[in-house]
Amino acid sequence: MNDTSLRSDPVAELRRNWRLQHRDGSGADLAGAPSPTVRQDADAILRQAGTNPPLLAIRAASGPFLVSVANQVLLDLHGNNCHHIGYSHPGLTAALSQQMREMPFVPRGLTNREVVEAAEKLQAAWPYGPAVVAFVPGGSAAVELAIMLCRAHTGRYKLVSFYGAYHGRSAGALSLGGRVRDRSPRLGPLLPGALHVRPFYPLPGEGAFDAEAAARRSLEDLACCFEQEGDVAALFAEPIRNGPFVPPAWYWPEARALCSRYGVLLVCDEIPTGLGKTGRLFATEHFDVRPDITLVGKALGGSIIPVAAVIAAAALNSTADLNLGYFTYERSPMMAKAATVVLEIIAAEGLVARAAELGRVALDRLRAAAAVRPALAEIRGAGLMLGARVCDPAGGNHDELARRIVRECLCRGLLLQSPMGARLMLSFPLRIDQDLVEEAIDVFAAAVDAAAAAADE
Ligand SMILES: Cc1ncc(COP(=O)(O)O)c(C=O)c1O
Repeated sequence: MNDTSLRSDPVAELRRNWRLQHRDGSGADLAGAPSPTVRQDADAILRQAGTNPPLLAIRAASGPFLVSVANQVLLDLHGNNCHHIGYSHPGLTAALSQQMREMPFVPRGLTNREVVEAAEKLQAAWPYGPAVVAFVPGGSAAVELAIMLCRAHTGRYKLVSFYGAYHGRSAGALSLGGRVRDRSPRLGPLLPGALHVRPFYPLPGEGAFDAEAAARRSLEDLACCFEQEGDVAALFAEPIRNGPFVPPAWYWPEARALCSRYGVLLVCDEIPTGLGKTGRLFATEHFDVRPDITLVGKALGGSIIPVAAVIAAAALNSTADLNLGYFTYERSPMMAKAATVVLEIIAAEGLVARAAELGRVALDRLRAAAAVRPALAEIRGAGLMLGARVCDPAGGNHDELARRIVRECLCRGLLLQSPMGARLMLSFPLRIDQDLVEEAIDVFAAAVDAAAAAADE
């Protein structure tokens, strides 16, 4: 490819720059002074743990890449799991621009062709029979609506979810969440009736874990909880935990059977893992299990429009006398157009099969890298979501080594989410070339070596 063609394709040019930068070690400069935007952010934006201070200021996003204000190109393996189709997908930006010009909004009480079309696409895609759909402006709102739907439909108020879970930040979603660090007495009481049991995945801070034993323990807890409480409305869970953590094949059929036995609705939160990320359109399709409700979000808006959806079995369409959502933007043609076009792109570009195929290539390469690197233990993968547990072979602090690896990645132009304890996640966009996936894993391996060598000093 000559220079002219590179210039006419912004993603190809970013890719060339990314390669040059990671090869000569000029990725993000974390040691330098923060950019003015990062400093201004502190005065303008409400401070919150976890996102302050921001690591970098970004000025552009295209394909799988972000570009910092200092022109460092980052391959984004974080993306908040929103970037399945990459950033600024030309098909989506064109469709949304046109939608914005023609009909950006429709007030409450009216409908439009776009929202019906988006709902019909999700109905057709959901493999579990007739369904109805509600659109909401984000994942937490989807969780809230599902909570209300389950309570109203069953006439029960108790909700079961997993310790260690994350389902969002609104009051109901936070109540279902099971991470101790998300709780604070300063936030006041959470929802009554929110109960927790042990999950099939490791709890925060848990080191090496036995997936079979954890899954058995979780089922025992579920059985005990459903039996003793007697009137649980719903179990809320991620079928594959963002991370990724995949339960043994027998877990979900047995959990489903327990739900059915006790009249508990099964709500599968696929907000980070749905829409093809794990190599199936819905993560539940990996298991012989039928949810009553599936929640999708994040990638549904193509990393442009905040939108999520509650897909509920038609039998739950029983709350016509109540206002569960009533969101100002619930029939937004912009949200709907984004969802429709994202689903079309995923289908037309074969991104689900691609996630499965490339995921296998990526997992093999990561496993090969880990085989000669004692710092990488417990390699996991589900489609294009990969994970590793970090183990400091020098006997130091594992969490600290994981943090150092993330920094070394950033210096080499790879953006990873902050580690969860000693666990790292590599979340690839689905629209990415195989050689870029392979190169990214090699860069990751080099970052692990650099971090481990620094830990040794
Ligand atoms: C499993 C899960 N559920 C719900 C949410 C909440 O989504 P949102 O941040 O769009 O409110 C998240 C967000 O990370 C999530 O990972």
